[in-house]
Amino acid sequence: MSKEVIAIEGGHLLNGTVRISGAKNATVALIPSIVLAEEPVEISGVPEISDVDALADLLRELNCEVSYSQGVLKVNPANIQNTPLVSEAVEKLRASYYFMGALLGRYKDVTIKMPGGCPLGERPIDLHLKGFEALGATIDWDEEKNIYHLYADELIGTQIYLDFASVGATINIMLTAVRAKGRTIIENAAKEPEIIDVANLLNKMGARIRGVGTDTIVIDGVDHMYGTIHEVIPDRIEAGTFLIIAAAVGNKMLIQNIISQHLDALLSKLREFGVAFEIIGDSIVVYGKLQEPRAMRVTTQVYPGFATDLQQPLTSLLTCGYGRSKITETIYEERFNHCAELVKMGADIIVDWEDASCVIHGPTQLHGARVKATDLRCGAALIIAGLMAEGVTEIENVHHIDRGYDNIDQKLNAMGARITRYLVDD
Ligand code: EPZ
Repeated sequence: MSKEVIAIEGGHLLNGTVRISGAKNATVALIPSIVLAEEPVEISGVPEISDVDALADLLRELNCEVSYSQGVLKVNPANIQNTPLVSEAVEKLRASYYFMGALLGRYKDVTIKMPGGCPLGERPIDLHLKGFEALGATIDWDEEKNIYHLYADELIGTQIYLDFASVGATINIMLTAVRAKGRTIIENAAKEPEIIDVANLLNKMGARIRGVGTDTIVIDGVDHMYGTIHEVIPDRIEAGTFLIIAAAVGNKMLIQNIISQHLDALLSKLREFGVAFEIIGDSIVVYGKLQEPRAMRVTTQVYPGFATDLQQPLTSLLTCGYGRSKITETIYEERFNHCAELVKMGADIIVDWEDASCVIHGPTQLHGARVKATDLRCGAALIIAGLMAEGVTEIENVHHIDRGYDNIDQKLNAMGARITRYLVDD
């Protein structure tokens, strides 16, 4: 058996311009939201990633007409049927669980297999389920097949306090509550920009949601939702990944289509690390490679804190910091699988699993090696490390990277990177 690898010849400085695509984590919630509409919905700025293909397949399973070209997704849900979503496509990505909230909202009845997603340790959906129950749903779970059946005679607005400000639970509860009778109040709601984007789409479709971006979201249920057009916000995690790349191997890089406020935490940490950059409208220019970057401490937090999705890419950068850096993870305590791969490339990293942290001693000169992308952002971390390394790095499990980064090889090659893909023997 042969498998595809991404091969990176390291050691080249990058120059030029890159345009950030639409946000993956907004898109994967926007697409399932469409089933709430009774008329066509068009979304532009949709990234070319395999997660989008999987969600489009699920829409087709529900008998929606779907077309996708040049970043524009057109969906006509006029003949939608509430078919059980139990095929393999559901298991390809975790975000398919947004169909749970959306179909429950629209039909008060949904059957769906528990989705997959990146292996980041335990990822329960108890908060989602508690929210659906509070709105009046009964939940049957076939443990053997891992299939959920949720149904309700009536969904009734209520007050829901989230024990943790979960992105997924906030969005999923919103998707059901928009069609519940009366008012729903979500307290301790998550505040990530992707949630605001989803609420904006829902409001354009006729929903009445206020307070997104704060701790308290207020939703007044409506009886019908309509067609609309919407543009996805820029991907702050892709932008963050390119900012880290620019800090690691950039000569002068212009990164376009950024909402810089979404990246405040990363930008402060890059400033602390000694990176020179300038924000110009919706672009950021990063100047030059660092001479003596300083080791630093980073702790992941819910938004607007430092994003967990960027701690893995940041780990690669910190291998060139002088001294002892430490990363502490508070969102996904087991999100350290990238460290063992970076060690294969010569990094000096020790993971303390009990403490959910890792310590990086630097600077170390990374070298090429055969490594595995264990999850999406581990893949990003390895691409960054490959660009920094001497020699050739081969990254296996490229499907993780293709789930979430829109044409990353082409974007980097256009700035002077040397990245190819080929098949190798198992
Ligand atoms: C979203 O995941 C993102 N995924 C993740 O990005 C991101 O890492 C995460 O938010 C945090 O920002 C998508 O948007 C598709 P959570 P989500 O619910 O919604 C616990 C990437 O690389 N929790 O905020 O699953 C959970 O176990 C991906 O792009 C419960 O305990 O995140 C975790 O520890 C990976 N019970 C914490 O909350 C629940 O019911 C945060 O989860 C739900 C969550």
